[in-house]
Amino acid sequence: MSFPTSRPRRLRSNELLRGMVRETRLSASQFIYPLFVCPGSGVKREISSMPGNFHFSVDRIGEECREVAALGIPAVLLFGLPDTKDERGSGAYGDNSIVAQAVRAIRKAVGDKLLIACDVCLCEYTSHGHCGLLSGQEVDNDATLDLLAQASTSYARAGADIVAPSDMMDGRVRAIRQALDAAALQQTAILAYSAKYASVFYGPFREAADSAPQFGDRRGYQMDPANQREALREMRLDVEEGADMIMVKPAMPYLDVIALARREFDLPLAAYQVSGEYSMIAAAAERGWLDRERAMMESLTCIQRAGADIILTYFAKDAARLLGGR
Ligand code: PBG
Repeated sequence: MSFPTSRPRRLRSNELLRGMVRETRLSASQFIYPLFVCPGSGVKREISSMPGNFHFSVDRIGEECREVAALGIPAVLLFGLPDTKDERGSGAYGDNSIVAQAVRAIRKAVGDKLLIACDVCLCEYTSHGHCGLLSGQEVDNDATLDLLAQASTSYARAGADIVAPSDMMDGRVRAIRQALDAAALQQTAILAYSAKYASVFYGPFREAADSAPQFGDRRGYQMDPANQREALREMRLDVEEGADMIMVKPAMPYLDVIALARREFDLPLAAYQVSGEYSMIAAAAERGWLDRERAMMESLTCIQRAGADIILTYFAKDAARLLGGR
């Protein structure tokens, strides 16, 4: 049936109708809010490349997490800025790492009202800024696996519910799953950054996490933005290795990958609206070029429409407020 019998505008004529036929509904219950924990005490310092986001010291991060939980957001994702960096990224593992300390502080502050996820990677902790151990100028895949596994078990022992490896080493999900299980941490879930692209949109994060590589780039381990079939291969491997949830990152420039992943896999699918996606909207809004709220909600809605069940976003608190979360 076509025009004039069929008139799609009929169902767009008022908000009640539009709301009734809406296919995608955002909810704060699908957000994960990234947080950055730094050394010192009494610190809550705005990150200049990501206005509205902060570095928190361990003693201040609990109060922030209480606020996050009160907004109906179920989870935070922790990134750590260590006191000192070295070749082996020692600040990433061990029971007194900055992230392990933050996990304990958050648990104390919020109890079981919030899930705690920890990003697992070495780039914030290595002096060279690469995501693994170096052998010459190359990142040594297999030598890195044990350190990622150590970091994961230390976060889980501190009380993390979820570990999220973002390093893109081959075989890391299996190495982490085996290490967790061997440490009787079978209940700790793995959210794998499966299709993580070598993206310019991580730019603002490098300032937030002080994690820029000191030479070269990450194209030797993160994916080529031109590839789609390879993303499916990466995700398949992570599923086989024991991932509980898979992720596509960044989100908005990769909606095709999200949509494909949704069709191909039955695991919960996450998408990471990364720092550059956030900061582009924040900067344009600051200049009056975009309406911040509408750009935020449209971008999040479209990421969900493409197929993401879970969205990691720096807008989580603002969007939850707008959605009238608890
Ligand atoms: C660590 C990591 C990065 C991000 C998440 N985990 C940076 C990178 O890979 O360079 C990016 C997050 C963002 O841009 O918001 N490897």
